[in-house]
Amino acid sequence: MRSKRFEVLSKRPINQDGFVKEWVEEGLMAMESPNDPKPSIKIQHGEVVELDGKSKEEFDLIDQFIANYGIDLSHAEEVMAMDSKEIANMILTPSVPRSEIVKLTKAMTPAKIVEIVSHMNVVEIMMAVQKMRTRKQTATQSHVTNVNDNPVQIAADAAEGALRGFAEQETTVAVARYAPFNALGIMIGSQVGRPGVLTQCALEEATELDLGMRGFTAYAETISVYGTEDVFTDGDDTPWSKAFLASAYASRGLKMRFTSGTGAEVQMGQAEGKSMLYLEARCLYITKAAGVQGTQNGSVSCIGIPAAVPSGIRAVIAENLIATMLDLECASSNDQTFTHSDLRRSVRTLMQLAPGTDFINSGYSSTPNYDNMFAGSNWDAEDYDDYNILQRDLRVDGGLRPVREEDVIQVRRKAARVMQALFKGLGLPTITDEEVEAATYAHGSKDMPERDKVEDIKAAVHLLERGVEGVDLIKALANNGFPDVATELLNLFKQRVAGDFLQTSAIFDRNWNVISAVNSPNDYTGVGTGNRLVGQEWEKVKDIPNAIDPRDI
Ligand code: 5AD
Ligand code: CA
Repeated sequence: MRSKRFEVLSKRPINQDGFVKEWVEEGLMAMESPNDPKPSIKIQHGEVVELDGKSKEEFDLIDQFIANYGIDLSHAEEVMAMDSKEIANMILTPSVPRSEIVKLTKAMTPAKIVEIVSHMNVVEIMMAVQKMRTRKQTATQSHVTNVNDNPVQIAADAAEGALRGFAEQETTVAVARYAPFNALGIMIGSQVGRPGVLTQCALEEATELDLGMRGFTAYAETISVYGTEDVFTDGDDTPWSKAFLASAYASRGLKMRFTSGTGAEVQMGQAEGKSMLYLEARCLYITKAAGVQGTQNGSVSCIGIPAAVPSGIRAVIAENLIATMLDLECASSNDQTFTHSDLRRSVRTLMQLAPGTDFINSGYSSTPNYDNMFAGSNWDAEDYDDYNILQRDLRVDGGLRPVREEDVIQVRRKAARVMQALFKGLGLPTITDEEVEAATYAHGSKDMPERDKVEDIKAAVHLLERGVEGVDLIKALANNGFPDVATELLNLFKQRVAGDFLQTSAIFDRNWNVISAVNSPNDYTGVGTGNRLVGQEWEKVKDIPNAIDPRDI
């Protein structure tokens, strides 16, 4: 006979999640695998001849890349001789500024940095993230997609997302050839909702770069790197080819970051028996060595793997911490869905929400989950009020703000209208008034009329063939009733020429001022310092529409 208690428990959402015991040989271990190398470095005539227990003859491509470009060798031997627990305590001690810590962390090896964070419990890791995050202000990023790749809906959702506070928004496609329309939809919608929001369209690498060069996007982040040579070269890539791609983005004034995260190597069956965190540390060193300003990490799309093993969610915040210790911008995941449990998904996010990261979510779904084409997100449009209230409860800045329904309706309608005008101006298939109205009030694609997909795809492909570029968009907007939106696009392109937003952790305010780790570095040195949710921004977070004013009763 079954216990009634256990019967009830077995039906709880948490028990639909997958869990697995550690399996060292396959790398199914979040942290501290017995196969992880011990930290070491030997330098001869300015060249690394030993790295984390391997002599230079044994280096694989990744070791070589890190040895060549990833470590400040000028005082590496000194730093490596320091006690790891002592360094961990320096990081935890508020009065030791992050600038002092970074001098040390940049001069150590992947195994050393992993050893340091492995000494910490989650509260210590969170305190360290609060201090080590590169930019002073926190922010967050959304996904804007839908199952039909409807560009009018994308524009409306992007406008709402921008109004709600996302500093970056990304789309991807259900059908690859729709990409130019998705990219236009998210860029236009974002500038309508709040000028200064950066947008991207995640695609196969060559197409993504092409769209960026044409002026259809402003940044890129799904440039994947991996922690073992076998997985890396499986994708026909090397650290050098990824570094080349990074330079191509920089050359056209496009912001970019790499993506990596625990679990990827296990998922691809090539983890060399190393812990997930150690392999992720190697990815972050590759990112640093390539001269890239930041990372999207925190397992990201592989979250099911660390989440299945003990201490996996701790490893995820630990990998975010390592990114910040290497002075990288950190878009800290909290995107792909990984659990059936609301409790569990909230606590997973608390790790980044409470200390704050550069982008707490690197993909909060601005649509209902059925429209999320990144395989579903941990947070979606139906959670907006929960997220706002968590910020209010804890007085933390998660990057979003409460909004008024009438304001959302207004920016959604305008974004849809602007798309209608842009499509007309570019000679693309008509966007009807009915579609504009539907997008204004829609929750998801189920509320949208169908478009002729064959016509749309033909036109999208043709748009690229006839060489339409950013300047054509500006003209089409200016000549079809929206000079204000044309001006914002022009502002964006001016920024691409100036290039200041290629600095670490850069975002824009609504007047196109860059806020980055260069002009707004995290200056946390203890109680009362660093970023505090105060003044106007705290007033906004407090001001949820459904709070009763006791004076009115
Ligand atoms: N490692 C490397 N790349 C990842 N991505 C997501 N998670 C990881 C990871 N753990 C990248 C992939 C994917 C996109 C959404 O982000 O390129 O296609
Ligand atoms: Ca993302």
